[in-house]
Amino acid sequence: MADTTIVLPVGHRAVVIGGGGAIGRACLRAFAAAGANLWSLDLDGAAAAAGLDGLGHGHHHAALDVTDRKAVADRAQAIGACDSIVYAAGLESDGDIVDLDWADYRRVMAVNLDGAFHVAAGFAGAMISARRAGSFVFLASMAGLRGEAGTSVYCASKFGVVGLVESFAAEMTPHAIRINAVCPGNVDSPMLRRITQSVTGRVGGDADELYESWSRYGAAQRMVTPREVADLCLFLASPAATAITGAAVRVDAGAMLYR
Ligand SMILES: NC(=O)c1ccc[n+]([C@@H]2O[C@H](COP(=O)([O-])OP(=O)(O)OC[C@H]3O[C@@H](n4cnc5c(N)ncnc54)[C@H](O)[C@@H]3O)[C@@H](O)[C@H]2O)c1
Repeated sequence: MADTTIVLPVGHRAVVIGGGGAIGRACLRAFAAAGANLWSLDLDGAAAAAGLDGLGHGHHHAALDVTDRKAVADRAQAIGACDSIVYAAGLESDGDIVDLDWADYRRVMAVNLDGAFHVAAGFAGAMISARRAGSFVFLASMAGLRGEAGTSVYCASKFGVVGLVESFAAEMTPHAIRINAVCPGNVDSPMLRRITQSVTGRVGGDADELYESWSRYGAAQRMVTPREVADLCLFLASPAATAITGAAVRVDAGAMLYR
């Protein structure tokens, strides 16, 4: 279990959506170490369960397709009031706009943006009716803060998440529910490996060399770890961040800074 200096209030209930992924798993570990009772949800039900391995008893998991609005609402109702939601489900996308595959566009938007809306709508209701202060953290990306060639669909989905976060935060403030976005840079992860394979398959070159070059991108010239992203998610969900809402916080080791 990850060590952490943040301790959540006793009985804190956290839901990690995308709990089977690299960042989702790291979030499960960070929140468990801070004392949370967890729900791990993922399209891949076995991965959702595996994300809880070694985290002790009292946690729950289930398969959930975030693109299914009714399934999200039903799952939110079954879980009931909780204190924090982390939205870490997501799909990558690669390719130029002139070659756009509309099915790929819809697939990525459905998970990265539509799903975020379904989760916002589905899970806020129970928090509001329970009159419970709470927090949502949505995984955006540095691709949600600036455009990049070959990444238009992913960028559009992540810019959308940042817009959702700002509006949702303004709507939820009267209910003491805080909403924030986390914007990682290049995270050392299977998703980033898949992107390098896709890019080199499209434009040529060696995927391992590209991955290595991306690991030297930005001011700190290193990648971010899933744990570093999870620690920020935990901080934003904790009482240490009660004045932070509607923010898009970068965790990118200076990737957006010139050096
Ligand atoms: N890895 C990076 O470099 C990086 C950088 C910036 C932002 N992000 C974002 O962080 C989030 C997590 O990334 P990751 O590296 O953990 O990716 P990942 O591929 O390891 O995990 C994503 C998870 O989302 C799940 N998922 C996909 N479609 C789903 C659906 N329809 N319903 C429910 N779950 C679904 C997958 O099963 C997977 O477990 C994503 O939103 C990603 O865009 C990642």
